Amino acid sequence: MAGVPEILSRFAALYPSSRQPRIAQAPGRVNLIGEHTDYNLGLVLPMAIDLRSIVAAAPSEDDRLRVYSEELKQSAEWSIGEIDAPRGDWSDRIAGVAWALARRGVRMAGSRVLIVSNVPMGGGLSSSAALGVAAALALGGARDAAEVAEIAHFAETGFVGVPCGIMDQFVSANGRKGAAILLDCRSLDWRPVTLPAGLAIVAVNSMVKHELGDSAYRTRVAECAQAARELGVASLRDASVDDLGRLEGVGLRRARHVVTENARVEAFAGAAARGDLEAMGRLAVESHASLREDYEVSSPELDFLVETAVGLPGVVGARMTGGGFGGSTVNFVRAGALGEFSSALSSRYRQKWAKAPEIHVCAASGGAGLIFP
Ligand code: GLA
Repeated sequence: MAGVPEILSRFAALYPSSRQPRIAQAPGRVNLIGEHTDYNLGLVLPMAIDLRSIVAAAPSEDDRLRVYSEELKQSAEWSIGEIDAPRGDWSDRIAGVAWALARRGVRMAGSRVLIVSNVPMGGGLSSSAALGVAAALALGGARDAAEVAEIAHFAETGFVGVPCGIMDQFVSANGRKGAAILLDCRSLDWRPVTLPAGLAIVAVNSMVKHELGDSAYRTRVAECAQAARELGVASLRDASVDDLGRLEGVGLRRARHVVTENARVEAFAGAAARGDLEAMGRLAVESHASLREDYEVSSPELDFLVETAVGLPGVVGARMTGGGFGGSTVNFVRAGALGEFSSALSSRYRQKWAKAPEIHVCAASGGAGLIFP
């Protein structure tokens, strides 16, 4: 990934008359367990990873927000006073952050922006949240990590229009080196959870892009809100296993996933603390089954990756991670078995789906921050 001197020189080449930019970085994440629980105000256990988005931004004299994406080799231009609706493209994330900052009373000038990222887009590792968080820091106005996460989340829900929970932005802003983050999405209380030594966390990208703005995500959010209304609770966080008997059909299946998944997050954190790899793996596999059967957000490719992985030596468990319908799986693999795991999974996936998965051994990383000046 490009370092500060390289980013500065690319920025100067792109915007020759500009002053030096402020540069921020923000990590992507892999969620270990606690899927589709965040917008139900439940528990999640994500980990910030060593893939990141970098945003360099400098104010300009005019009112133009000029954005260039190095990954896409595309530029976009907005008028800062006229950011009122998303365009449905990648530049919405930056415009959305400018919109969110303005809504919070920050006086926005025009800006020149350069984006460099190695978080795969649509890979289920939160490339969008990483971009939003880095933009919130680079464009300024945020005092601390909590506020950065809030601004990026507000941009995503209020401007881009994805009714997502806070997990991705929160962990990107608050990541801790060497630990996952156990977050209560209702109180926003959190604590770091150290994973057992000798256990590798491996993200495997199915290379099937998911579209988070997809109607399916919205439908799940609405179905959960409806189930909560039927139970007379503020959110499914307040529902218990006993309540499930009062639901039926789709509402029952969605709520059953959320209620059991919250319990699995706590059990998984406990197992991690005891170093109980078997329990961690079992819970991951149960989570996947629940997402496949009750929540219906998996895909044939993700199911194949999980089923194949758990049959390989040294794999304690695997599950889909992120919103689903494509994207990645997260695999819990004994460190000594990594080489064989990668080559066997990759060759079986290629045989079946005629494309190679992208395999990334994740290092638990620190959260977002300014890297220049
Ligand atoms: C996406 C959303 C998150 C969360 C996950 C599912 O990553 O951005 O807020 O809902 O899906 O757990």
